[in-house]
Amino acid sequence: MRAADFMVCFAYMVITRDTRKQTAVTPAKTARESDAFEQTLRPRMIADYIGQSDVKSHLLVHMEAARKRSEPLGHTLLHGAPGLGKTTLAHIIGREMNAQVRVTSGPAIEKPGDLASLLTNLESGDVLFIDEIHRMRPAIEEVLYSAMEDYCLDLVIGKGPTARSMRLELKPFTLVGATTKAGAISAPLRDRFPHVFKLSFYTREEMEQVVERTSRILQIQLAGGVADRIACSCRATPRIANRLVRSVRDFAQVKSESTITMDRVRSTLDALGIDEAGLDRTDRAILSAIVDKFGGGPVGLSTLAAITAEEEDTLEDVYEPYLLQQGYLHRTPKGRMATRQAYELLGLNVPDTMQSALFS
Ligand code: ADE
Repeated sequence: MRAADFMVCFAYMVITRDTRKQTAVTPAKTARESDAFEQTLRPRMIADYIGQSDVKSHLLVHMEAARKRSEPLGHTLLHGAPGLGKTTLAHIIGREMNAQVRVTSGPAIEKPGDLASLLTNLESGDVLFIDEIHRMRPAIEEVLYSAMEDYCLDLVIGKGPTARSMRLELKPFTLVGATTKAGAISAPLRDRFPHVFKLSFYTREEMEQVVERTSRILQIQLAGGVADRIACSCRATPRIANRLVRSVRDFAQVKSESTITMDRVRSTLDALGIDEAGLDRTDRAILSAIVDKFGGGPVGLSTLAAITAEEEDTLEDVYEPYLLQQGYLHRTPKGRMATRQAYELLGLNVPDTMQSALFS
C-alpha cells in the first residue's frame, strides 16, 4: 500500500476511534422493508438451517475445535448464487461462537481508513462480515492481508525520508467474506481463508422444508401439496421461496381465504409470470433471445445484456447460475447457447443440428 494511503488510514483511525457504533456498520446496509422481512425468517442457529449439509457439518467441526482452543473460528469464505443463505450463515457463525457480527460490504469500504477503522474497533472474537468481498478495491484488500494473517495493521506515519512504520495490534477476529463471484477474488486474498465453502442450490425436498418453516413462522395454513408446488417454483433458492410465500399470502388475504389452496398458488404464480418450471419472465426472455435472434447461440454476454435490458453482472450472477444448473443454458468460449431443454421449454422444435450429445 502507498504511504499516502497509510497516512489517510491513520488519520481516519484517530478521528473515528470513539465512534464505535457508527463505524461498525457501514452505510451500505440500509434497513429496507424486504430485509426486515427476511430477517424475521432467518434461522438463528445451525440446527434450524435447512440444507447445505456438507457446509454445516464442516462448520460445526471447525467451530467446536475453535471453541475448545478458545480461539475465533478461522476466516471463512462463503460463495454461491444470491439468496442461498450466505448472510444467514455469517450471522449463525456469530451466534454459535457467541460473538458480535459487524457487517459491511466490499463496495461500502471506500478507503483503507474505512477498513482500518472497522478492524481496530473489533472486540476479541468478533465476526467481521464483508458481503460482496470481490468488489473490494486492491489497495483496501492489502490492508486485510496482515490483519487476517497476524491480527495486526502495518502503518506508515509521515512521508519521505522521515516516514516511520508502526504496527498496530488487533484483537483476534473472524473474517467472513461472501461473494457470488468466487473467480473474481484475487489469489492472495482467497489463500488467506482457511475455510472456503460453496453454497449450492437446494433440493426440492429442502425447499419444501423451507416453505413449510416460513409458513409456520408467518402462521399461514397450506393445503396439501402447496408447499411442494411453491418449492418447485422458487429457483431452488430460499430467499425466492420466502418472497413467493409472502406474495401468495397477500393474494389469499385479499380474497379472505384462511388457507392457501393450490388454485391460489397457481393464480399467484401466473400473475407473477412464473411458469411450471419455476422460471420467470427474464429467464424466458434470455432463452428466447438466444433462440429467436441467434439461432440458439453462441451469443456474447454483452449482446445478451443489451437485448434483455439487464446488466451483465445481473445476468451472470442472478439468472445464469440457475439456468445453467437446470440445463437450459450452456456456456462456451464463444458465448451462451440454448440447450435442447430450452427449446422444449419454449415449446419450439429442437433443430436437427442439435442432436449431438453436447446439447442434449
Ligand atoms: N430461510 C432462508 N434460508 C433458510 C435455510 N437455509 N434454512 C431455513 N430457513 C431459511
